[in-house]
Formats: sequence, C-alpha cells, structure tokens
Amino acid sequence: MKKILLTGIQPSGKPHIGNYFGMMKQVVDMQDEYESFPFIANYHSLNTIQNAETMRENIINVVLDYLAVGLDPQKVTLFKQSDVPQVTELCWILNTITTMPYLMRAHAFKDAEAKNKEISIGIFDYPILMAADILIQDTDVVPVGKDQQQHVEMARDIAEKFNRIYGETFKLPKSLIKEDVAVILGTDGQKMSKSYGNTIPLFAEDEEIQKLVMSIPTDSKGVDESKDPEECNVFALHKLFSSEDELGEIKRRYVEGGMGYKESKDILVKNIQNFIQPLREKRKELENNKEIIVAEILKKGGETARERAEEKMKEVRAKIGIF
Ligand code: ADP
Ligand code: TRP
Repeated sequence: MKKILLTGIQPSGKPHIGNYFGMMKQVVDMQDEYESFPFIANYHSLNTIQNAETMRENIINVVLDYLAVGLDPQKVTLFKQSDVPQVTELCWILNTITTMPYLMRAHAFKDAEAKNKEISIGIFDYPILMAADILIQDTDVVPVGKDQQQHVEMARDIAEKFNRIYGETFKLPKSLIKEDVAVILGTDGQKMSKSYGNTIPLFAEDEEIQKLVMSIPTDSKGVDESKDPEECNVFALHKLFSSEDELGEIKRRYVEGGMGYKESKDILVKNIQNFIQPLREKRKELENNKEIIVAEILKKGGETARERAEEKMKEVRAKIGIF
C-alpha cells in the first residue's frame, strides 16, 4: 500500500518559482511513489478573494498550472476543497476541541495582529480547516514550504487531542520539507511571496524575466573584486537553475573575482528563460479546451476525495455520538 500524500494550494493568483520549487515540484516528483491528493484550497482563499469571477478563474488556473508542470491527473486525485463539504463539517468538530490561546500561537495570526489587520474568524480558524483537510484523508505526508510547517504541526496536535478524547481515529501527519528549497528568496532577498511583490512568476515571458532579474539589488563591488556568493540574491537563484558544474564555476569566479553582477545576472536570465519556456508553452497549449479539461479532472477528483472523506466521517460521527 502506498502512503498518502496531500497538499493544498490556494487559488490566489499566478504561481511563482517559490511555489514551484517549494511545493509543486515535490508533488510532481512524488506522484508515482505516493497516493497523492493535491487540492485547491478555495475555502481558505475566501479569506482574501471576495469576487466570484476572480475565484472561478483562479481555480481553473491552478489546474492548468499543475498540468503544465507535469502533474498527471491519471495518477493523482486533483480536486477542489469545496467538493468535499465533509471538510467543513470536520472543521467544526475540531473547533470544539481546540482553544483560542492555542490558535493565537499561529504565525499567520500573529503577523496579521502585529500589522493591525482586521482578522476574520476565517483567518483565525485557518489552521483548523487545514487540519481537517489533512486528517480527513488519512494523510501521511504533507509537502509544503517552510512557512506552512507550523500549520502541519498543529494538524498533528489536533489529531492527537481528538484521539486522546475519543479513541484512535486519525493518523498523525508529517510535513515534508526539502531543506534546500524550504525558503526560496524573492528579487528583494526576502522570502518570495505574492504578498511581497517580489516574485518571478512561474510562467513569465522572457522580457519579464529579464526585467525582474535585472532589478535584483546587489552591492557595489566591481567586476574584479572578490564576492561572497552566499551574500548575493542573484547567486541564491543560480542554485535553482544551474547545473552543478556551472554553479561551481560561477562560485569560483565570484570568490576569485572576475565575475561582475551584470554577467551573473545575464547568465541567470538565460537559465531561467530556458527553464520556463517549455512550461510556458505547455501552459498555453492547455488554454485551448481548458473548460473541458478542468471540469473533467475536477469532477473525477472531487468524487474520489469526497467518497474517502465520507467514509472517514462515518467513523468520526460514530466516535462522537452524532448520528
Ligand atoms: P505565497 O506566500 O506566495 O502566497 P502560498 O502561501 O500560496 O504562497 O504558498 C503555496 C505553497 O508554496 C505552500 O506550500 C508554501 O509553503 C510554498 N511556498 C510559497 N512561497 C515559498 C517560497 N518562497 N519558498 C518555498 N516555498 C514556498
Ligand atoms: N495553507 C496552505 C497555503 O497557504 C494551503 C493549504 C490549505 C494546505 N489546506 C492545506 C496545504 C492542507 C497543505 C495541506 O499554502
């Protein structure tokens, strides 16, 4: 029996290379080894998207994004969260065994509070809905970037608490974080994130890639001066897009002197363009017939995910005495 892999992606706009290397690539690479359930967390994204047309389009786009990077819908169950309403039912049940002080420890909540943002109950409850997503499918592993690690730990804590109160019911999930891509840095050196406006979109056009890479700030060292590669945001991106030999050579020329930032950026632009071009073309091809492709995949995925969730909920309802 294969282990269960599950991970969600919010339909919150265009994916960037941080999403790809931090999470999407892992799902694609592991689709043979695990029974996989990548899904579109559309209920989660209601916290930020409150426009029906945008929501609808973004959901379709996530499916095309995933297909373009090589996810095979014959191998995995790709579905929308909202096709599994049992998740919101389980979320409510988990709400009743989770305390406010516990949820107040969530980084996302603390950040929002520190920035004096208006915090909806939906934002506050976000980790519990995520726990429900994970636990309802008997998930073993959850591939995510580092920023989601705490949420997966919370899902595990909540599962343990439920099991303590009602008896063994939920598997304890583990996050799967690839250390070398746990945090991809953006063009400004902070974590790459849609919310920071520092992304390189995964399907960017050549000119856009060129512009974004050229905008990466560097220090003022001249061509011949020795540079510390680990201090350079351009070099951080080289690690994702260079062969081992090329990376070694760039590193050597940084340290010895002789490579200027302009040349380093030119190499990076070329490598990113070569990497993105086939993905972008595949993505464009998928745009034809997208409504049909997407509807078929999501219908099938939704059914499978919902049936499994309903089986699990039968067990949960019996355990808590609700019939
Ligand atoms: P964003 O911060 O751009 O809104 P999301 O929250 O939608 O990204 O993240 C979707 C997935 O991509 C999550 O698993 C997240 O951990 C991963 N991810 C996002 N940004 C990065 C990054 N800079 N480095 C590594 N993984 C990332
Ligand atoms: N919170 C995740 C994000 O913003 C999305 C998500 C929702 C998720 N439910 C999940 C990820 C379950 C993994 C497992 O990226």
